[in-house]
Amino acid sequence: MNKIDPNKLPRHIAIIMDGNGRWAKSHTFGRITGHKQGAKAVRVVVTACRKIGIDVLTLYAFSMENWFRPKEEVLSLMNLLKEYLEKEEDEMMEQGIRLTAVGKLDSLDKKVLEQLHNTMKKTSKNTKMVLNLALSYGGREEIAMAARHILMDGLSGKIKPGDINEQTVEQYLYTKDLPDPDLLIRTGGEWRISNFLLYQMAYTEFYFTKTLWPDFGEEELLEAITQFQRRERRFGRISEQLR
Ligand code: FPP
Repeated sequence: MNKIDPNKLPRHIAIIMDGNGRWAKSHTFGRITGHKQGAKAVRVVVTACRKIGIDVLTLYAFSMENWFRPKEEVLSLMNLLKEYLEKEEDEMMEQGIRLTAVGKLDSLDKKVLEQLHNTMKKTSKNTKMVLNLALSYGGREEIAMAARHILMDGLSGKIKPGDINEQTVEQYLYTKDLPDPDLLIRTGGEWRISNFLLYQMAYTEFYFTKTLWPDFGEEELLEAITQFQRRERRFGRISEQLR
């Protein structure tokens, strides 16, 4: 904790929590056990981010593509998510965490959606940190959805083509109320972004690690933040212009 500079914290951290299946395999467990262990790591990382003073934490909990996994695994992930929300609601209240969600939420199981809405409502006044879950989320789907809504507003005369700029597009994304991620962490050893926050990650710093998600904890989170703080974010400019 001493290693990190409290004045240079990433405001928004996004995480691709990969490696639950491989973690399970390496311990000769089934994949579902890997996801359960992954949910434990979620608890640890949420608490650590809150303690460090991160404003927004976005977790890629279920992608659009994850719907194509075996039925049994999809069902278990949905149950796990519902269970997590039920169990963690009180803790979120205690820690001042506000829950939000991004993605094609109406594709979620009715019971999960109900629980999600309940927890979001209950925590809506909390101000210490936003825990944002990406659920049934796909970056391309999000951009297509935004285009559809922009066109609809165009047709009804609410906006004109000449008015559409980057800020307008941002207002139509699922993340309209959130800052762009400053730091993306991906566990599990793959070096790709897998359709995650495609528009929002234009200037995000990336931290890739071989650590499997269930083994990821506070120590490596601090390491990722330390590495982030060593980087020079130029946003297309040159070093001298930053001083
Ligand atoms: C990727 O690992 C992980 C997922 C598809 C699901 C992530 C879910 C959790 C961490 C647990 C539940 C979430 C919450 C918010 C309580 P993988 O299965 O693709 O791993 P593999 O690449 O090793 O097979």
